[in-house]
Amino acid sequence: MAKADGARHKFGMDAFTRWRRGMRALVRGWSWRPSPGAPRTGRVRLECDAPELGRFVWHRLLPVVETSPYPPHELMLMCAVVVHLRPDVIVEWGTHLGVSARVFHEVAQAYGVATQVHSIDLPPGVAHAEHPGDRRGLLVRHLPVTLHEGDGPVVAQALLRHARNPLVFIDGDHRYESVLRDGRLVLQAAPNAALLFHDTFFQPGSGYNHGPHDSIRVLLREFGREDCQVIEAALGLPGLMLVMPRG
Ligand SMILES: C[S@@+](CC[C@H](N)C(=O)[O-])C[C@H]1O[C@@H](n2cnc3c(N)ncnc32)[C@H](O)[C@@H]1O
Repeated sequence: MAKADGARHKFGMDAFTRWRRGMRALVRGWSWRPSPGAPRTGRVRLECDAPELGRFVWHRLLPVVETSPYPPHELMLMCAVVVHLRPDVIVEWGTHLGVSARVFHEVAQAYGVATQVHSIDLPPGVAHAEHPGDRRGLLVRHLPVTLHEGDGPVVAQALLRHARNPLVFIDGDHRYESVLRDGRLVLQAAPNAALLFHDTFFQPGSGYNHGPHDSIRVLLREFGREDCQVIEAALGLPGLMLVMPRG
C-alpha cells in the first residue's frame, strides 16, 4: 500500500514541482554545492553527490570523450576529485590526444572551479611508443589548457612550486621505474599534492603490467602517506588510483 502511494506521488508530481526540480538540477550542474551535512571541501575525505555527478558524466562528458581510455567509473573519480578538492592547479602528463586534459577542463568549467590546467608530453623528437605525433592535444587545442613539451615530472616541478592545492595526474610511461620517478619528483616539489595515477589495475596471476600499482605502494611508504585516503576505480583495465593528501 505504502509502495503504491509512493509510486502515485512520484508520477503524480505537478508541473510546478517538476519544473522546480529541473531548475535545481540545472543550477547544481553549473555551480556545485555540497549536500547539507557534507564536509565543505578540501583536505577531508572525498565525498561527492554521485547521482548528480553521474548525470554530468553521462550527458556532458561521455558524448565528448567516450569510454576509452577512461571508462565511466574512472571519469567519475577524475571529476569527483576536481569537484571536491577544487585545485588551483592541475598538472598532467602525457597529453596524448588530450582526453584527460579535456575531462579536467570540462569538469572545472561546469562546476565553477577556478583552476589552470597544464598538460605535458614529450617533444616530437623523443621516441616513445605512445607518442601521438602531430595529433598531440587534439581535443584541447582550442581551449584554455596550457600544453607543454618536455619530461612530465621535470616540467611539473616548476609548475607546482607556487601551487596551493594542486592535483597531479600521472599517465605517461607506465613502467615501474618511470612511475616511481614521476611520483618522487612530484612529492618532492609538492608534498601536499593530490595524485591520480592511470593504468593501476592489479590482477594477481595475470600478465598485466603492475608497474603503476606497485610503485604507488612504494611511494606511500617512502613519503609516509600510508594513512592517506586511497580510492581505486578498479573494475578492470586500465584502472585509476587516487591518493588524497592528509587533512
Ligand atoms: C597513455 S598516453 C596518455 C593518454 C592521455 N592522458 C589522454 O588522455 O589521451 C601516454 C602518453 O605519455 C607520454 N609520455 C611518456 N613518457 C612521458 C614523459 N616522461 N613526460 C611526458 N609525457 C610522457 C607519451 O608520449 C604518450 O603520449
